[in-house]
Amino acid sequence: MIFKSNSKKINISIIGVGYVGTVTGACFAKLGNNVIMVDIDKEKTDKINQGISPIYEKDLDDILANNKDRIRADTSYSFAIKNSDATFVCVGTPLKKDNNIDLSFIETATTAIGRCLKEKDTWHLVVIKSTVLPGTAENFILSLLEKHSGKKAGNEFGLASNPEFLREGIAVKDFLEPDRIVIGFYDDKSRDVLIELYKDFPCPIVKTTLSVAEMIKYVSNCFLATKISFTNEIGNICKKLDIDTDEVFKGVGLDHRINPAFFKSGLGFGGSCFSKDVRALITKAKDIGENAKILQSVIDVNEKQPLKMIELLEKHMSLEGKKIGILGLAFKPNTDDIRDSRAITVVDTLIKNGAKVVAYDPKAMENFKKIFSQIEYVSSAEEVLDTDAVLVATGWEEFEDLDFTDKVVIDGRRIERAEKEAAKYEGVCW
Ligand code: UDX
Repeated sequence: MIFKSNSKKINISIIGVGYVGTVTGACFAKLGNNVIMVDIDKEKTDKINQGISPIYEKDLDDILANNKDRIRADTSYSFAIKNSDATFVCVGTPLKKDNNIDLSFIETATTAIGRCLKEKDTWHLVVIKSTVLPGTAENFILSLLEKHSGKKAGNEFGLASNPEFLREGIAVKDFLEPDRIVIGFYDDKSRDVLIELYKDFPCPIVKTTLSVAEMIKYVSNCFLATKISFTNEIGNICKKLDIDTDEVFKGVGLDHRINPAFFKSGLGFGGSCFSKDVRALITKAKDIGENAKILQSVIDVNEKQPLKMIELLEKHMSLEGKKIGILGLAFKPNTDDIRDSRAITVVDTLIKNGAKVVAYDPKAMENFKKIFSQIEYVSSAEEVLDTDAVLVATGWEEFEDLDFTDKVVIDGRRIERAEKEAAKYEGVCW
């Protein structure tokens, strides 16, 4: 998407050079703004200064290389805050073991920004792009900024929430062609600066409070996860009724109130966001005396889907001593990311039942080896077929080129050719 940008350019700093921060900074630079990206990891900042992206995202390297004159990376907060008008906080908010959100990176970043604001004599906007529970900006972040800057939010610095809705692998496209921009603002000036920054985007701009903006992000992810678990619950029923789940959802999705997206049944959702955000909201609800039963069932259904795959396999053979092939390890195609990948539960269960695992993934094997060093990894998908049974855990396009003739296949992501050719074929939900 290339559109003429008439918005007034501002100097932007980005805290946190992960997939959100790098994509956000690069795209703001592409739109004509000067961007300083900050990270404690000098390896990352060095890469960006060479026009190389520290993470894999389609088109990102080109954007970084083509906008080098507007982008620089640094490990120093003070340089970045001094030389920018607005700072976007894009640090991670992982889940702690007790299912509470870990705000330690937010606290570190906010404290450092506050200290820099103390030394700055011009107004500065702090924008929270990290996924934080409703109330975090208005209470936790605002008080830290005021404490460490000695300034008052509103007239001496601005505060806003601007959540992201980026999908891994297509994050650049999702940034430049969003369905909506969400701006939660503490003060009018913060609102106006962000409206100006985003004014050329051809989508609705939602202007609201800090807490509503934070909640829109959570509810969006929770609803998408709910759609998937709902699809899988219906898929498990359809499987036993010998009804094709995809056919059912083709008909259901045509209702304009429902829409066809996110109705792919199978092994369920992985990734660094869905499970984390659903669990964090369940905990938040519990803290305020609400029992989020539907959200809990979204997690419960999702946790069981990989076990459905094992159940189906055991209908065909015992696992002890068998050689089982795994096609796909990443949490979804076109990424090397294995965070919360459904393949983790599948492989773990196979090992616990005495099976020997042979795995292949076009991009994610190096990451998977860090968790499962004891299984065999092969350099081609074909080699996985030379096993007692083949399990499809990630729907990579290239798996459609394989010859599944005479194979036993348990499919979690619906590879059409497997369904046509396998000697014995079971779809998890079809
Ligand atoms: C998600 C949200 O889509 C994005 O808006 C948010 O900002 C971050 O989290 P991402 O995790 O990158 O993005 O991947 P997504 O494409 O949403 O897929 C998430 C998981 O759901 C994957 O494991 C995928 O295989 C699974 N999925 C997706 C299904 O099982 N069925 C579907 O129909 C869609």
